[in-house]
Amino acid sequence: MAVVNGYKQNENEKKLDILNLPSLEEQAKQIIPTGGFGYIVGGSEDEWTLQANRKAFTHKQIVPKALSNIEKPELATNVFGIPLKTPIMMAPTAAQGLAHAEGEKDTARGVAAVGGLMAQSTYSSTSIADTAAAGNGAPQLFQLYMSKDWTFNEALLDEAKKAGAKGIILTVDATVDGYREADIINHFQFPIPMANLLKFSEGNGKGKGIAEIYAAAAQKIGPKDVERIASYTDLPVIVKGIESPEDALYAIGAGAAGVYVSNHGGRQLNGGPASFDVLESVAKAVNGQVPVIFDSGVRRGSDVFKALASGADLVGIGRPAVYGLALGGAQGVQSVFEHLGEELQIIMQLAGTKTIDDVKKTHLLDIRY
Ligand code: FNR
Ligand code: LAC
Repeated sequence: MAVVNGYKQNENEKKLDILNLPSLEEQAKQIIPTGGFGYIVGGSEDEWTLQANRKAFTHKQIVPKALSNIEKPELATNVFGIPLKTPIMMAPTAAQGLAHAEGEKDTARGVAAVGGLMAQSTYSSTSIADTAAAGNGAPQLFQLYMSKDWTFNEALLDEAKKAGAKGIILTVDATVDGYREADIINHFQFPIPMANLLKFSEGNGKGKGIAEIYAAAAQKIGPKDVERIASYTDLPVIVKGIESPEDALYAIGAGAAGVYVSNHGGRQLNGGPASFDVLESVAKAVNGQVPVIFDSGVRRGSDVFKALASGADLVGIGRPAVYGLALGGAQGVQSVFEHLGEELQIIMQLAGTKTIDDVKKTHLLDIRY
């Protein structure tokens, strides 16, 4: 157990014997300090949208093609020209030092071990370069929280490029902090500095709550900002936090090379729709112009399958991977991705789909039970 500014950080490094991803939450709660766990698990307001994210996966069903004559389903895919061994990716999640002393470095190691794609956050506990180095050449995206200070934005974009990032995620659904009651109850303030802020701003996040950190970032974000970022960096820019066909087309029109359908895991706009419930309409509007990434509430192989069948090219997980990080470090993260991949392979076999492309061509039934 490491202690940083009085905050106890886990140092477990072990493979996990996982029954299912939802069961990791309670196990992680036992070993992550209260404030840090509340920040990770929490949603906004009464968490209606957070809960809707899970329920929404019951809105569509998989009709199997039982006579498909297939065996040994394959998870390999290729998105943004990046060959991947799994369509499951690591969503950008801040401050992973709250879960483990190695933070994003162990997450990078674990995701690299399964041949997946990792997104690292502006608000990471470890620097862009250190997280990239830990991935040892494995593909990563850098997620930008746009600052009001464009020299900061450009410095981060330059660092990401130098570190070998394959793309930039611009998150647009967090211009202010969702009303996070767990953080209020716990009087949560980040005990660990955010490495990327250390060099560029007087406030490195330590001793601040997420509301203050967001307040220092940009509140006004529009298509012109997408254009400006896309013209500054030669990396593909993916806009995260899209929940409507209109916004998807605005983003593409402004130069986005990817659309990321997400409601931030129910941590931002409470009262908004479940992320899965808007995926199909957004994907239909995008109509294959650019890749679509999806996240929020994914916990089962069948969830991943349904998201791919509804138009996603990549499916992200956040909290379950952070819980795996706390419980087992790099091997814990690897265990989480391996388990979810195993569940997906079972579903693919039973649905009669050999490849991810077959899954993406599958038509789901929409019956509300
Ligand atoms: C996040 N998320 C997030 N998103 C982002 O663009 N930048 C960030 O820094 C963070 N930070 C963050 C921290 C924590 C603790 C969580 C749980 C989430 C949102 C994240 O990328 C993703 O959208 C959700 O986590 C997906 O929902 P699930 O899988 O956590 O239910
Ligand atoms: C959060 C931010 C950091 O969800 O994205 O906490």
